[in-house]
Amino acid sequence: METKYLTQNEIETAAAILREGGLVGIPTETVYGLGANGLDTKAVADIFTAKGRPQDNPLILHIPDADWLGRYCRDIPDTAYELARCFWPGPLTMVLPRRDNVPDVVTAGLDTVGMRCPGHALCREIIALAGVPVAAPSGNTSGRPSPTTAQHMLEDMDGRIHAIVDGGPCGVGVESTIIDLTCTPPRLLRPGGVTLEQLRQVLDEVEVDAAVTRQMKAGEKPKAPGMAYRHYAPKAPVTVVAGDPYRSAAYIADHAVAGDGVICFDEYISLFPEQAGQGYVAGLGRAVDKEEQARHIFDALRGFDHTAVTAIWAQCPDTGGIGLAVANRLNKAAGFHIVEV
Ligand code: TXA
Ligand code: MG
Repeated sequence: METKYLTQNEIETAAAILREGGLVGIPTETVYGLGANGLDTKAVADIFTAKGRPQDNPLILHIPDADWLGRYCRDIPDTAYELARCFWPGPLTMVLPRRDNVPDVVTAGLDTVGMRCPGHALCREIIALAGVPVAAPSGNTSGRPSPTTAQHMLEDMDGRIHAIVDGGPCGVGVESTIIDLTCTPPRLLRPGGVTLEQLRQVLDEVEVDAAVTRQMKAGEKPKAPGMAYRHYAPKAPVTVVAGDPYRSAAYIADHAVAGDGVICFDEYISLFPEQAGQGYVAGLGRAVDKEEQARHIFDALRGFDHTAVTAIWAQCPDTGGIGLAVANRLNKAAGFHIVEV
């Protein structure tokens, strides 16, 4: 199929394609999503085919307004409405008990569903115009880094989807925070744009799922099925170097050889003249600016797939604030191959 490239002025076309059961790349504030009508079983099944996504990995439903929550979820706790008041529209997905009108193919048979009201105004307009909840995973081929521009999404999905709406580069750059509200205390399943510290200001207690910070053991199942997979992975193996930025930069400078890729904070780019000369250094942003790092992390990982690098070294921020999400994506890309310095 030919993938239509749509501008911000053509969202009615995008909405019509969604209504008719097609696949549309949609911009969100986190990453681009691969959207389909979440009530259309066939359209949702097509998402799995286009991405090569394992069938046991559920999708989240995107809605234009918190008022839609009750249409697809039941037994909604007050905390859900409180979180919606504080963080929606925005990068937070809540896992709640689902109603029977949510197709099994969306939830991979689970009796819960992830719900999100995106912070990207254009995205909410598309969903509102379509008039249906939009099921959307990140718009990458399964296993690859998530796309944060329309161009990145087209690298993976050109010819596999009916259209893509270019809403510019994503402002957050990592996927939404996922909080499971079906257990007590609520559990953080994936760190993202809404930080753990922010959640703890609203909820008395938040548990952090083990899959956020370590590799799952054989047979161990994370509560968010997607967290089990090796993810965000460029083709070359990644080693994460964690610790004080000055020391981690020095460690990488000691160990990286010509032909290796380096992901580092901007202050340290000058330590890698040889790799920089080959175009193999990706600056993440300044060491103190974790928001900037979040915006660049996937771009950096994805960029190396166009090069001949055979190994990648990455500096990693501490886990405060959105650093938890940046570190999680880097650690997963590295298959939790982490050196602490
Ligand atoms: O920011 C985002 O959330 C992006 C944009 C497009 O909205 N979407 C996204 O979707 O990251 P995806 O499919 O790439 O990641 C969704 C994650 C997966 O790890 C999946 O296993 C988990 O959410 N998930 C979905 N439904 C769930 C449920 N009912 N219970 C637990 N985990 C769930
Ligand atoms: Mg994804």
